[in-house]
Amino acid sequence: MARRTDAVHVRAPGKINVYLGVGPRRDDGYHALATVFQAVSLYEDVYATPADGFSLEVAGSVDVSGVPLDERNLALRAAKLLAKTTGVSAGVHLDIRKGVPVAGGMGGGSADAAAALVACDALWGTDLGPRGLHDLAARLGADVPFSLHGGTAVGTGRGDELTPALARGRFDWVLVLSEQGLSTPEIYGRLDDLRAHGEALADDATTVLEVPIALLQALRSGDARELAPVMLNDLEAAAVLDRPDLELALADGLRMGALTGIVSGSGPTVAFLTAGPESARSVQEELRATGREALHVHGPVAGAQILSA
Ligand code: C5P
Repeated sequence: MARRTDAVHVRAPGKINVYLGVGPRRDDGYHALATVFQAVSLYEDVYATPADGFSLEVAGSVDVSGVPLDERNLALRAAKLLAKTTGVSAGVHLDIRKGVPVAGGMGGGSADAAAALVACDALWGTDLGPRGLHDLAARLGADVPFSLHGGTAVGTGRGDELTPALARGRFDWVLVLSEQGLSTPEIYGRLDDLRAHGEALADDATTVLEVPIALLQALRSGDARELAPVMLNDLEAAAVLDRPDLELALADGLRMGALTGIVSGSGPTVAFLTAGPESARSVQEELRATGREALHVHGPVAGAQILSA
């Protein structure tokens, strides 16, 4: 559909978990987390136009074939939740342009939801403000509040209780994308299984479910060399078990000059931290030369924002 001039255009970023400590599964099915998110320069663009009902179209620079277009779609659910809680009777058409890999562990679906909330809030004049939007975001998913927030932030609880973290300068990342996505609930479940069988180091993170001070200091200093050795992802063991090729990608990136590599969130995207833009370009080129899809991004970047209304 051609975009109408009365569309509200909102852009929201994808994220990398620079640190992802996973605790035990809670009674609500979620795991307690101590995580640090960084929003990076891969974006979801959402255009919201007035409509009688609720409808959706999805396109983008990444493979969008895995995106649900029905009631499971998180952006559509976001729009409906906002309408219901504010008593708005109008509908919306959402046109989503995806730049964040689908089912890649980078919070693309969450970014869609965050962008849809901000766009519909502006379109309908519901004016919920940051607190109101945050509360709705947390009801939609654990990563949705962070995409609203952006920057660099510590996440506790399910990952939805956010505290901004000071991060100086910019970090240059190279992402290796996968054709096949991974299911987040399955990866969390696999980690539980590994831990139940004593095969994954549960307890470094679970006994002290806290982001290390050294990591927060490294972010503050803006020094990628300081940050690299303290990055960690408890979900990595589970993701790699499902996808042994990720281990190969991790080893290749390090050999090519990345400071460190980590699986992003529940994977399968692999994120390499590099010493700066030049090093990132060289790692990206070498990874591409092996036939992989590699992108150079940087962070931190802003959270969901209105670009035109
Ligand atoms: O909140 P969201 O719908 O994005 O989470 C997807 C799934 O990931 C959850 O249903 C749950 O299985 C798992 N998850 C978890 N603990 C978290 C976040 C997500 O177990 N803190």
